[in-house]
Amino acid sequence: MAVEASAPGKAILFGEHSVVYRGPAVVLAIDKRAQVIAEERSDKKIFINAEDLGFSGYFLGDRYHPKRGETWRGRRLAAFNVAARRTMEHLGVGSGLDLIVRSEIPIAVGLGSSAAISVATVAAVGELLGGGLSKEDICSLAYEGERVVHGTPSGVDNNISTYGGILRYERDVGFERFEVDGSPPFVVGNTRRKRSTRRMVDIVRALRDRNTEVVDNMIDALGNISQEGLTALLEADLTRLGDLMNINHGFLAALGVSSPELDMMVHASRRAGALGAKLTGAGGGGCMIALAEDSCLKRVEDAIRGEWGVPIRVNVSYEGVETRGIS
Ligand code: MEV
Repeated sequence: MAVEASAPGKAILFGEHSVVYRGPAVVLAIDKRAQVIAEERSDKKIFINAEDLGFSGYFLGDRYHPKRGETWRGRRLAAFNVAARRTMEHLGVGSGLDLIVRSEIPIAVGLGSSAAISVATVAAVGELLGGGLSKEDICSLAYEGERVVHGTPSGVDNNISTYGGILRYERDVGFERFEVDGSPPFVVGNTRRKRSTRRMVDIVRALRDRNTEVVDNMIDALGNISQEGLTALLEADLTRLGDLMNINHGFLAALGVSSPELDMMVHASRRAGALGAKLTGAGGGGCMIALAEDSCLKRVEDAIRGEWGVPIRVNVSYEGVETRGIS
């Protein structure tokens, strides 16, 4: 018996970086998913086969043994090993596992691939070895895995992957989930340049240390943009939503987290008729997101390609983590 689980990736619409300090972030689950198939093994290995992503290997305890791909890849896979082990500890069972990982979400470009795989891992292993995990359990066990790789992330990624939909997140306030009818038409543009979230967060911190009052005013403005952006999204006011995305990108560039590739793709998308475009996630590479009327989506995709990016059409997805048994 094997169990398959899948979970969605995410795009941050507003509030990246400012959310680290205060004010809300608005995050969308996207219709690109990661899938994990879990099966028991007779030994104690946690074998992770991520052939799609170019690596596979097994963990015995915390030690990674690569079969394909470099040893350092183990650092990324460690999140899934920890997520699987914490799930077994939670259920009071121990077993070796085969985990087959597949993903439509590009990795390390700010679209939440790691959290989606961690969430799907917990759900698949939980169902395989006893079942009965609540969504809250899945979300918090996946966070344990994420902490291993990302330090102390805000928790946005594992929450959105577990619950799907639209989330407003604010430190000390927590998460609130929203739904709208249909999905505004978004195109993500992937620079294919991988980057470290930690490094980008450090860049903003250093700028703030040197220019505290100026940067604090920007953080407050970004919080307002997020809140207004959420209202525009819920009211399906696409013109205002686009304006706020554009303003948001300007502030992020001023904080030093854009890049020439991101700026080129953002401006090319706007020239092609996008209502708004901004970087999404930590910046410094990774992805941008554009909002465009259906009639000019194709032109925006071509504009992103013209700047050497990879366009990915995305819709908001209301399907959070899902599990099914397979024989
Ligand atoms: C990264 O996806 C979003 C940041 O705001 C960091 C975080 O919230 O943990 C840059």
